[in-house]
Amino acid sequence: MTSILCVSGSPREGGNTDAMISEFHRGAIETGGKSTLIKLREVIFSGCDGCEGCNETHKCHLNDDMQGIYSLLEKADVWVFASPVYWWNISGLLKNFIDRFEVYWGDEEFKRLCFEKKAVILTCGGQTENKNREAEQYLELFFSKMHLTVIGKIRASADEKTTISEGKLLSCFELGKKIGSGSG
Ligand SMILES: Cc1cc2nc3c(=O)[nH]c(=O)nc-3n(C[C@H](O)[C@H](O)[C@H](O)COP(=O)(O)O)c2cc1C
Repeated sequence: MTSILCVSGSPREGGNTDAMISEFHRGAIETGGKSTLIKLREVIFSGCDGCEGCNETHKCHLNDDMQGIYSLLEKADVWVFASPVYWWNISGLLKNFIDRFEVYWGDEEFKRLCFEKKAVILTCGGQTENKNREAEQYLELFFSKMHLTVIGKIRASADEKTTISEGKLLSCFELGKKIGSGSG
């Protein structure tokens, strides 16, 4: 069974990013995948404080919800990160989350695990989809540094809450189904 961790990086409740990742998650479960959906705005965590203690230990001293999320990340076969486009990049919420991956930097054991893992990138911006490029590229760079293979990307364009098209949500659902079934 494919184990999937879906992460929404949107601060806006019930917005377009949430809609995209919720459809992906629903599709993944429908085809037998084991999918967990996390909305970062509901997670209690702080940004990296730059202490560099994890260089030696590969553990983070910040005692918050990230400690539970680290074990979910380690177990998941597929990481799905969804972000609204904020100033041509990902949201600050998602970036703060990514900064906490500093624990994995130089961790050879985790690196070996990551070679087997896959990633999916979902982005939604208010302008045309080509303006999602930098945010998407940043996530591609992040996943490549983590040694994950990106197996799916969907860009959407919608500004007001819930204005994302049905067609785009269907694409997210279908991609979730495909990856949940293990044929991603
Ligand atoms: C702080 C902020 C910055 C934004 N910057 C961009 C941007 O650079 N490019 C863009 O296409 N849309 C931008 N938008 C619009 C959002 O990407 C758009 O409204 C999107 O649907 C938000 O996703 P959500 O519904 O999940 O919150 C910005 C919105 C906010 C609040």
